[in-house]
Amino acid sequence: MLKGRGLIGPDDLSVEELEWLFDLTARIKDDAGYLRQSCRGRLLASLFFEPSTRTRLSFEAAMLRLGGSVLGFAEPGSSSVSKGESLADTIRVVSSYSDVIVMRNPKEGSALLASRYSTVPIINAGDGGHHHPTQTLTDLVTIKHLRGDFSRLTIGFCGDLKFGRTVHSLAAALSRYANVKMVFVSPDELRIPEYITYGILKKNNIEYAETDRLEKVINDLDVLYMTRVQRERFLNEEEYIRLKDSYILTTDLMKRARNKMIVLHPLPRVNEISVEVDDDPRAAYFKQAEYGMYIRMALLAAILGVV
Ligand code: NCD
Repeated sequence: MLKGRGLIGPDDLSVEELEWLFDLTARIKDDAGYLRQSCRGRLLASLFFEPSTRTRLSFEAAMLRLGGSVLGFAEPGSSSVSKGESLADTIRVVSSYSDVIVMRNPKEGSALLASRYSTVPIINAGDGGHHHPTQTLTDLVTIKHLRGDFSRLTIGFCGDLKFGRTVHSLAAALSRYANVKMVFVSPDELRIPEYITYGILKKNNIEYAETDRLEKVINDLDVLYMTRVQRERFLNEEEYIRLKDSYILTTDLMKRARNKMIVLHPLPRVNEISVEVDDDPRAAYFKQAEYGMYIRMALLAAILGVV
């Protein structure tokens, strides 16, 4: 279904294609033997120009579990980028060595640019503060599995909504489902960009609200999506220090939330969820990270055309 396709932005996959991918993910998760060795002899190039734990390792684990191989780098200092090579040249060459490329890069738009020079599919693993579509697949499949579907869902996004690319991608992807409501909780300085609210949500008639008070809205939510303040995107360290602890989800605050609310976080967590919350059955962020590997297996198998 997705053979030969790349994934650059959150709406590159249709709602029908997403459903198909979720079903495939469930099958992979439930049957440890399914698709193992299906990508034998295929190569994934993993180009990480920015730090990563989950995204990089879950892609690598996914490819290895499918029987394929992985080559690449985890920091640009060890590649010819440090000698001044352009992204276009790097991509032209790496695409001649591999069958699919997963790339994370600090520049917004870099994945789209790479896709213009690549002869193999490009998967965007994060382009600056812009988008992170495979985290969105992870978030969606987690919500789907824990909640059943996306209808009448009220989701709260809390933290750094300005620079948080996972928020931008998830809000855009969810805007295609009916009866979804969004509540954006952030300090004024870190509000959700207008290209999401005016550009996407209003166009799709999605009901949304903005506030700076988590405690006022937490009881309205089915899903609370917490995020880290994105230190690396600030121009001014003092501003980061002033804003970094704007929200901390505590067990006290969780008492105000619904019994069935789920807490997601793309991770890494810094301070924004206190560790005591981990024991709350509503905390789903570690399960979410595990789903990330299964859905990346599904995505790679689909792009490589083995399913
Ligand atoms: C996120 C990212 O890289 O945008 N992490 C991830 O991929 N799981 C979130 C973050 O770094 O805060």
